[in-house]
Amino acid sequence: MKHPHARRRRGVRRRGAAAATVAVLLASGTVALAQAQASAAAGCKVGYTTNDWGSGFTASVTVTNLGDAISSGWTLEWDFAGDQQVTSGWNGTVTQSGKHVTVKNPGWATTLSTNASVNPGFQGTYSGSNSAPAQFKLNGTLCDGSTGDPGDPGDPGDPGDPGDPGDRVANPYAGVKQYVNPEWSAKAAAEPGGGAVSNQPTGVWLDRIAAIEGVNGGMGLRDHLDEALEQGAGLVNLVVYDLPGRDCAALASNGELGPTELDKYKTQFIDPIAEILGDAKYAELRIAAVVEIDSLPNLITNAGDRPTATENCNVMKANGNYQKGIAYALQKLGALSNVYNYIDIGHHGWLGWDDNFGSSAQLLADVADQSGSKGNVAGFITNTANYGALTEPYFTINDSVNGTSVRQSTWVDWNRYVDEQSYAQAFRQELVSDGFDSGIGMLIDTSRNGWGGAERPTGPGPQTDVNAYVDGGRIDRRIHLGNWCNQAGAGLGERPKAAPASGIDAYVWMKPPGESDGASSEIPNDEGKGFDRMCDPTYEGNPRNNNHMSGALADAPLSGHWFSAQFQELLENANPPVQ
Ligand code: BGC
Repeated sequence: MKHPHARRRRGVRRRGAAAATVAVLLASGTVALAQAQASAAAGCKVGYTTNDWGSGFTASVTVTNLGDAISSGWTLEWDFAGDQQVTSGWNGTVTQSGKHVTVKNPGWATTLSTNASVNPGFQGTYSGSNSAPAQFKLNGTLCDGSTGDPGDPGDPGDPGDPGDPGDRVANPYAGVKQYVNPEWSAKAAAEPGGGAVSNQPTGVWLDRIAAIEGVNGGMGLRDHLDEALEQGAGLVNLVVYDLPGRDCAALASNGELGPTELDKYKTQFIDPIAEILGDAKYAELRIAAVVEIDSLPNLITNAGDRPTATENCNVMKANGNYQKGIAYALQKLGALSNVYNYIDIGHHGWLGWDDNFGSSAQLLADVADQSGSKGNVAGFITNTANYGALTEPYFTINDSVNGTSVRQSTWVDWNRYVDEQSYAQAFRQELVSDGFDSGIGMLIDTSRNGWGGAERPTGPGPQTDVNAYVDGGRIDRRIHLGNWCNQAGAGLGERPKAAPASGIDAYVWMKPPGESDGASSEIPNDEGKGFDRMCDPTYEGNPRNNNHMSGALADAPLSGHWFSAQFQELLENANPPVQ
């Protein structure tokens, strides 16, 4: 929801952009990490980084053997996600058949000892998009950072795991069934056609203190966890969302705690949640905990002397309670070996500009340090409850028309990214360079970014000028990138999926499709929720969406409440389509 976007200071950014000659285009990431476990049968991890110039690229593949020493040669294999074609290779013999690529050790290097790495590379061409392969295999073993040995204390589900946070797996989503929230599922199934998606996992939102026990007779946290065990699920998606002075640049999801109620947040919200999640009964259930969306990015973009600043964000910036609350949550939850903390990085239409990107990453690093250790953070989430396209198939940030870069188009407006996947991968690199573990993984909320249906372009826009090209080809049909509330024309995006691309732990449906982002007119309530005109279809905007129409659907209920018309539109415009 929310997402008080985020326009950077125009002057500063423009100047910086014009001077930037080299785009940092590392679509890169480590596929999986592992706290190297010594003796084991077979296991590996792979880092895959590319240097991309639009139609061609070089790739560097770092393969680490986590298993027993290999003495008689190694073979690395993967399938390309797109139409990539290898043209030459090094540090190994690279062959390709269709999408399948095989790299064999060079004749002079047949051994690979435990924890040793090799680094083959290649040059290739492609058209369309150049996403990283979803998985790699070394001598037939999937390189997911684990060793697969049942006796390895780092592997999930081993009996007798000591419960040390160091035992977390590289990607908690890999190889587990996710919990389906029966409350959401029932609402989805009751909609015409909704049965086609009602078995998907969606986020469970703890959006107020009372939600821990259950609101209005609904399920509380223990009920969800017990039900997850019943379902035989291995992972629950949980959103921890009740920060003091919540969502300072918007009103639709303001919460129950005032700007100074930090102690209440700690003792009545985080402590009881940590106590429940730490119950031995749930030790084998992984919890992906999204810790407080709508907060830290606001301190960067909507505070201080920016034209987008709001009074509430300045209050939160001055009192430091966002940082203190989040650091506390990370520390308490990070102490539990079954919890994986993911922090909000907004989305590309919020932090993708140069003067927001690096400073946001730095703030996240500071807050993680404030929690005691960056090790309390498993990863980051982008696009929560937002609408940014996963990938824009018909244009890239490197394109230009008649010598004018797409960055100069009105839609892109000097942003450095045009979609969520490239943004998430680049942000991951930035965080690693700020000191986070190279094994951190990203989540992308794809609940409402499909942009299918009749309005979806089927090819690139005309090359008459840069705006015609971008506007004709973009699948994100919003009026403005800064619009965030109940967007008309949106559709369900990729179904939840583990390890879909390099550096990405999962595509998730953190925002349950069909739950409103905010009321389209004022509705009195006792949930702390205000009326934000970004949810009113007649609203003409503010500096955070550069004074454009809101693009919101009419007749919307309060945020979090069921919005049947929206659900039906999401189904109708789903991409991939719903079968
Ligand atoms: C609301 C929450 C709700 C969540 C998920 C947010 O916009 O503020 O109350 O739980 O969306 O729908």
